[in-house]
Amino acid sequence: MEKIALVGCGLVGGAWGIVFARAGFDVTLYDPSPQSIEAALDFARSAAPGLAEQGLLNGESVEAVLGRLNPAASLAEAVRDADYIQESAPERLPIKQALYKEMAPLAKADAVLASSTSGLPASAFTAEIPGRERCLVTHPINPPHLVPLVELVPAPWTAPDVVDRTEALMRRVGQVPIRLNREIAGFVVNRLQSAMLAEAFRLVEDGICTAPEVDAAVSEGLGLRWFFMGPFETIDLNAQRGVADYCQKLGPMYYDLAKEQADPRPWSEELVATVEAQRRQKTPADQLDARKAWRDRCLAALVKAKRAVLAGG
Ligand SMILES: NC(=O)c1ccc[n+]([C@@H]2O[C@H](COP(=O)([O-])OP(=O)(O)OC[C@H]3O[C@@H](n4cnc5c(N)ncnc54)[C@H](O)[C@@H]3O)[C@@H](O)[C@H]2O)c1
Repeated sequence: MEKIALVGCGLVGGAWGIVFARAGFDVTLYDPSPQSIEAALDFARSAAPGLAEQGLLNGESVEAVLGRLNPAASLAEAVRDADYIQESAPERLPIKQALYKEMAPLAKADAVLASSTSGLPASAFTAEIPGRERCLVTHPINPPHLVPLVELVPAPWTAPDVVDRTEALMRRVGQVPIRLNREIAGFVVNRLQSAMLAEAFRLVEDGICTAPEVDAAVSEGLGLRWFFMGPFETIDLNAQRGVADYCQKLGPMYYDLAKEQADPRPWSEELVATVEAQRRQKTPADQLDARKAWRDRCLAALVKAKRAVLAGG
């Protein structure tokens, strides 16, 4: 894999550009909206110097990274020579279906066609296309140039070799891939997030605590461990003799909690308004963009700190 094409250059496509370019790949960018391509290049220009300062450009110069991002005038031009195509078009099934139909014959027969989709299974938009065994989902967590995890989700017809090659590529560009064995709604990350959000809304709805207090429970509590370990390793280290010991002691308590949590609730308008009001007290609407920029600065600093902490540990 040497040449990368990005198809769809909005929020996520633009961030993918940095991921591949800082790893030394030539990247072509295609988007039906020239403004989107310009915005993606602007984003790279504005983000690259800060990433270089944090040591997050792989030791590459800003100019070298920016020089590898090449706009293409058409879809055909973008994908013609690409070994790997990362599609980040809007999350609408008819758009993806039409795009894959158009793109598949334009791409090389052995090119990988990977979608950034957050929730559509690849089988929903690749069933009818020639060479559908080349397609899979490579789902990033936004923004992928700062958050390394990607979920690789094959369709029933995806060739195992395509998943292998994608996994190798993701590792080469510094991402951390996990492989799902089959398609499932929400993949892994959003299923985990969904379980936590359901409980977070329930706690606020039942008047147990406020939205900022739920946020503190994660940012000042659970999240500190989650910085470097997941839920299974967490419980493995929270009992004298490891995970089985933990489950023996606390399994019944969690089972009782799970039974209480088993009634799914819609997020009512009233509940959402409550959470919205509590959030706006913390972050007024006109400060949301500034807060997103702050989040990205924190993420960059954390990625840097994580490398240092784990190297020293
Ligand atoms: N935003 C996130 O947090 C996030 C995270 C992970 C994955 N994703 C997924 O990434 C994909 C893109 O999301 P986004 O947030 O970057 O959206 P976005 O709206 O910022 O960007 C979409 C881009 O696609 C372009 N586009 C429109 N029609 C197209 C076509 N036919 N072919 C190619 N490009 C086309 C648009 O001009 C736009 O630039 C979606 O599938 C989304 O689910 C988003």
